[in-house]
Amino acid sequence: MKLLHSLDEISAATAGFRASGKTIGLVPTMGALHEGHISLVKHARERTGAVVLSIFVNPAQFGPTEDFAKYPRTLEDDCRKAETAGCDVVFAPSAKDMYPDHYHTYVTVSELDSTLCGASRPGHFRGVATVVLKFFNIVRPEVAFFGAKDAQQVIVLKRMVVDLNVPVAIEVCPTLRESDGLAMSSRNVFLTPAERAAAPVICRGLRAAAALFDKGERDAATLARMVETLYQKEPFIKKEYSEIVSIQTLQPQTVIAGPALLAVACRTIESGTRLIDNIVLGGSL
Ligand code: PAJ
Repeated sequence: MKLLHSLDEISAATAGFRASGKTIGLVPTMGALHEGHISLVKHARERTGAVVLSIFVNPAQFGPTEDFAKYPRTLEDDCRKAETAGCDVVFAPSAKDMYPDHYHTYVTVSELDSTLCGASRPGHFRGVATVVLKFFNIVRPEVAFFGAKDAQQVIVLKRMVVDLNVPVAIEVCPTLRESDGLAMSSRNVFLTPAERAAAPVICRGLRAAAALFDKGERDAATLARMVETLYQKEPFIKKEYSEIVSIQTLQPQTVIAGPALLAVACRTIESGTRLIDNIVLGGSL
């Protein structure tokens, strides 16, 4: 496996893959790899001839008071894990190469970027869409792999590739969880022991609502109440939002008629870590 940093190197490597007739799969990440990221690499390995994993803690998607500086950076360890999972190239560019002086161009996926996580993280999805389109243009993959854990991200990026005629297929992979249900996340390392013990309630709430949905409940307020009642019992976790929205428009649903996304964001009270999770009711992303 190669670790490449410069734009020239990655262009040469991907040209080589194309010349030998290999389809390219891209797994964009911010590093601090866990089993969730690795599952994307494994999907890519099965589906495409050459697997490129990008690692870039993208400053454009962090707000001024967010955890950009303390986001975990573990490149050596990440490379070992990526290689074991069958990755061909890790591409880890510098911020200077991605956003050189006089950088001015950003991608806005309007409306979809301002609900759910976009409401409390203004500019976040603009940063995500911009960096992902840049990676698409640099690597030119046939297929790119994203996790269902970041459902709004998937919905925003799917919209972007359709709207801008980007010739990349987006494949969505299921959320990997710890055995107690907590969705794997690079931010889980920030949790204090008490927060870690409390955090599985996030997934329990989603599953309880999904069980009610499976029994026939279609009233969004009733399902949301189910989630909230469970979260209120957990003092280490504070809910930021829990919403049931259309998977197309991300607009709130009152009565669930088609596939709906039940999405939640919470903050832990000791370390202030932001955790998100979701479940799709009556369909998939
Ligand atoms: P990051 O948080 O590193 O996640 C990289 C990819 O891994 C995303 O597609 C995310 O949905 C997926 N992922 C994270 N946790 C997962 C889990 N538990 N199970 C399955 N997949 C999981 O998402 C980003 O980085 C960035 O916004 C990025 C797209 C790289 C743009 O900077």
